Amino acid sequence: MPGKTYCISTPIYYPSDKLHIGHSYTTTIADTIARYRRMSGYEVLFMTGSDEHGQKIERKAREKGVTPLEYVDPIVESFKVLWEKLNISYDDFIRTTEDRHIKVVQAIFKKIYEKGDIYKSEYEGWYCTPCETFWLERQLVDGKCPDCGRPVELTKEESYFFKMSKYADRLLEYIEEHPEFIRPESRKNEMVSFIKSGLEDLCISRTTFDWGIPVPIDEGHVIYVWFDALSNYLTSAGYLQDEERFAKFWPADLHLVGKEIMRFHTIIWPIMLMALDLPLPKTVFGHGWLILEGDKMSKSKGNVVDPIELIAEFGADAIRYFLLREISFGTDGNFSRAALIKRINSDLANDLGNLLHRSTAMLQKYYQLEVPAPGPYQELDEQLKKLAEEVGANYRKHMDNLEINQGVAEVWRLIGAANKYIDETAPWTLAKEDPERLATVMYTLFEVLRQVALLIGPMMPETADVMWQRLGLEGSVQDQRFSELAWGGYPAGTRVTKGEPLFPRIDEETALKPQSEEDNQVAEKETLSDLKSEITIDDFAKLDLRVAKIIKAEPHPNADRLLKLQVQVGPEERQIIAGIAEHYRPEELVGKEIVIVANLKPAKLRGEISQGMLLAASGEGELALITPEREIAPGGKVK
Ligand code: MSP
Repeated sequence: MPGKTYCISTPIYYPSDKLHIGHSYTTTIADTIARYRRMSGYEVLFMTGSDEHGQKIERKAREKGVTPLEYVDPIVESFKVLWEKLNISYDDFIRTTEDRHIKVVQAIFKKIYEKGDIYKSEYEGWYCTPCETFWLERQLVDGKCPDCGRPVELTKEESYFFKMSKYADRLLEYIEEHPEFIRPESRKNEMVSFIKSGLEDLCISRTTFDWGIPVPIDEGHVIYVWFDALSNYLTSAGYLQDEERFAKFWPADLHLVGKEIMRFHTIIWPIMLMALDLPLPKTVFGHGWLILEGDKMSKSKGNVVDPIELIAEFGADAIRYFLLREISFGTDGNFSRAALIKRINSDLANDLGNLLHRSTAMLQKYYQLEVPAPGPYQELDEQLKKLAEEVGANYRKHMDNLEINQGVAEVWRLIGAANKYIDETAPWTLAKEDPERLATVMYTLFEVLRQVALLIGPMMPETADVMWQRLGLEGSVQDQRFSELAWGGYPAGTRVTKGEPLFPRIDEETALKPQSEEDNQVAEKETLSDLKSEITIDDFAKLDLRVAKIIKAEPHPNADRLLKLQVQVGPEERQIIAGIAEHYRPEELVGKEIVIVANLKPAKLRGEISQGMLLAASGEGELALITPEREIAPGGKVK
């Protein structure tokens, strides 16, 4: 019996610019689904790539004074670097400029032409170059592109047309009969009304520029970029080139696309396949956008977030987790650093990181890091086991059904329950009172950790592997199967390794400080110009800093800017003269704890002895005394 296969694609991205975090969203989801299917025993073909032809790219290259290929090559390379950093496990990266693809597109054109579904005529209408889309006058909104709102150009040229109108009824019927074809449901309704409003034949060739695949029967025409781009799915699956691969993987199981390109994937694409007598993909899923400050992230709006920088700062798994968890799959969702850091601190550092950390620390203390065999289960253990089984089943149901963020949430339900289980079973008490029960509790915890490592495998592949190795298990999580979720798979007697926290907590205040380049430059200048010459730790050690409590404060008899303080430093009482009269009134100082340099040579200031110097911070006209954050007995050392 042939094995189960799963064919999944991302859109192929325009190499007109570097990719931003919005593009990483589509690809992270596709990667998670691909990994999930592999771990469920499927042979997977995960396809992604770059959409390199078209007027937009040609213009960009011309602006830069290079050929289109010279323009796209380094950008395509940057896509691959990003996918590597984000741990994207694609099986095929297709460039539409590759020979294998050019051949397929020309063959497709010819086949449809010979069938009589392509004819030559004259096109007159509007074109949106950023979207590479044709529009009719009546479709424009305020004379602009209805999709992106940018200006359109009047185009009049001889073109080949694809008889889309001929297939409209067949497509409507197909959509009706295959409820899984367009998802989510809301987008299906949108597409159906679009088709019902009347399908025009589609212009599929251009003559006013060159950067495209030549029409095989008519030099001087290049094939319309979307006709070329959509065909990538067939090329990648092996169409006309690798029969075995094509038979195995076509029709695709899932085309994952952003909502704005649903029309191409659920109208033009299926009609192309119908004209070719090929089966249609099982599902086209249109996800929502990543929104930044209320607007779709896009290069032209200048509100993009660079995923490479985010990965360098927070790690690939944290970014993947955020994208998968925070945004309800299908609808738009907000991206913000604050929300990202919140997720990292609460879900990753606190919930997941702590569970592993606490469990390992206890295992070390009570069992020298060797997982004990369990004794008989009691109610709390049974409850956690039952929950793990339930979570495993729900997780798979959600993932199969493309409810990705709900699948992730299930895993965190188990993590939360395991943390609670520690509090309820109190292993530290069992260690003293009931060693047999302690063994069961520790085994149960480590079995849950094993299951968590498996379940997060598709979402956070690096973290899953780190956990797997710390748990002393062999191989990589990616090579495991979900069938191993069956309770009790963790071999007692396994040695666990202790390690650094999985996700260190992020200090929100520092991480959220605006970091514009200007800020950095100013900060750099100030630091450098104010910095005193370097000292060694020995120089610093010569200072004796102590906590002192102010017991009396009064104005200096001979100087308006000075105050005369009596302070308690350990058993001693000292007098200190301080230049703080402009910032503090004497009466508000009494009772405060401060820090003084206690071994400074005494000096007379305007006739009054000063036996030390207090520390204060100053900036922008403000001055503040340095005080211990909590009460410390006077005389305490400051280091
Ligand atoms: N080249 C076409 C696709 C051809 S597929 C046969 C294209 N490329 S694109 O680079 O503009 O966009 C690719 C994908 O990135 C789309 O699915 C789009 O929805 C997605 N995203 C771009 N910005 C996005 C967000 N801000 N949020 C989520 N997805 C985003 O269209």
